[in-house]
Amino acid sequence: MAHLPNVEISNETWNETKASVVAVGVFQDKSLTPMASHINDAADGLFSNAIEMGDVKGKEGESKLFYIEGKRVQLLGLGKKEEFNQETIRMVAGHVSRSAIKNKIDDVAIECFSSEDDMCQAIAEGLVLGSYQFLDYKTKEKNIFELRSATVLGCEKEAVARGAMIGNGVCFARDLGNHPGNVATPSKLAASAKEIADQGGMNLTVFDRKEFTEMGMGGLAGVAQGTDEPPKFIILEYMKGGDEKPKVLVGKGLTFDSGGISIKGASKMDEMKFDMCGSALVLGVFKALALLKPELNVVGIIPSTENLNGAKAYKPGDILKAYNGKTIEVLNTDAEGRLILADGLSYASKHYDPEYILDFATLTGAMVVTLGHIATGIMGTNDNLIDNIGKASKTTGEKVWELPLWEEFCKQIQSSIADVKNMGSPPQAGSIAAGAFLKEFVDEGIPWAHFDIAGTAWGGKPSSLDPKGSATGWGVRLVLDMMDA
Ligand code: BES
Ligand code: MG
Ligand code: ZN
Repeated sequence: MAHLPNVEISNETWNETKASVVAVGVFQDKSLTPMASHINDAADGLFSNAIEMGDVKGKEGESKLFYIEGKRVQLLGLGKKEEFNQETIRMVAGHVSRSAIKNKIDDVAIECFSSEDDMCQAIAEGLVLGSYQFLDYKTKEKNIFELRSATVLGCEKEAVARGAMIGNGVCFARDLGNHPGNVATPSKLAASAKEIADQGGMNLTVFDRKEFTEMGMGGLAGVAQGTDEPPKFIILEYMKGGDEKPKVLVGKGLTFDSGGISIKGASKMDEMKFDMCGSALVLGVFKALALLKPELNVVGIIPSTENLNGAKAYKPGDILKAYNGKTIEVLNTDAEGRLILADGLSYASKHYDPEYILDFATLTGAMVVTLGHIATGIMGTNDNLIDNIGKASKTTGEKVWELPLWEEFCKQIQSSIADVKNMGSPPQAGSIAAGAFLKEFVDEGIPWAHFDIAGTAWGGKPSSLDPKGSATGWGVRLVLDMMDA
């Protein structure tokens, strides 16, 4: 586990803490945070001198190391005072962790820059996310250095612990995403779900190939025909909310996507190990639920398989029957995510009376073209639900943008010989066609939203919170915020 499992709090001040570095702040208007100001007084205006000479500007992301009374002090730029928010504090805290690791410092302390709960939570989230590294396959000692401890000086306890738990949920999702396809198999996802279920007192059901095929999950069974790696249909139930309707989260658990018979090109095919990041998001949320223990009812559903090219692989032209009885003409075996989600969404509609269903999937390459690695495309059937997603997104800084599911698009996935087909009118509006397809498998009346995380689950610009080449754990924080977990 190469990230901080928790974040400490302490009432000590800068010269009392034993931490190897103490981080304090300065805003762009040149004003120092309270602890920075104390240090400045104790050290004959060390910071003011640096500011006057123009070496410190207080810009967001800026960071300078000073040495005072045998201590390292890191002066952090906090940006414009009037724009100082959770996102800034998270980024800045992330920088403290990341720069410590870079300098081989294993314990840090940071001043609590705000007394607000949300800000204290964000500071802890940032410390944990910034401490994340994926080191599981590094065997040389010299390549392994981890942050051991982080302390927030003078901070409100509960919010810090909460932020650390949420950060741990995100890191859990990242780890699953980063493991390669030969390790993060459907069985491994089921084992992770078991670990979470045991930790959080949840119910776990796992159907294997024979079981879900007999149950009528023709979408998952069809895609799984091409692989010998055992596929799974995983159901996690966290039921601590009395008789309230459950919130149901469905995640695409495609542990490697070769495209199947409609095979992908070799370039970047390795990245298709990330095609289970929708399921990693769901498991990350459940990991956080196990730690946070909120009074909620939440169900997680994960159809999981590889999409390979074995002798029995499904073929273009094949017709499959999903769990809700609808027939699907397969025109491209690489549009497999929607086929396995069809069963997940049908199952959620049939067996629960959900408050809402959210699904998460690295579903279309077209999404990366549309919104790049900046935002997740969302689609849905309920304005209120979309509004709530938008609100949570503003709090957590995980951007979303709604695409329309207009009737014209929904017509594009009608098939001439089956009920629907798994492609729209390529090359037009591919991400919307996928959303329109999924809509067919959600019972009318259930508020539903689809998140296409193809661009946001990995591959964006590295930052203090997101290391290069890593799964991001995008969405875990947004969903927890939305559920008031
Ligand atoms: N997993 C891919 C989508 C994807 C591709 C995500 C690249 C992130 C980066 C999905 O299963 C897929 O292959 N979709 C096809 C659909 C098409 C055949 C209609 C695609 O996007 O090309
Ligand atoms: Mg595919
Ligand atoms: Zn896929």
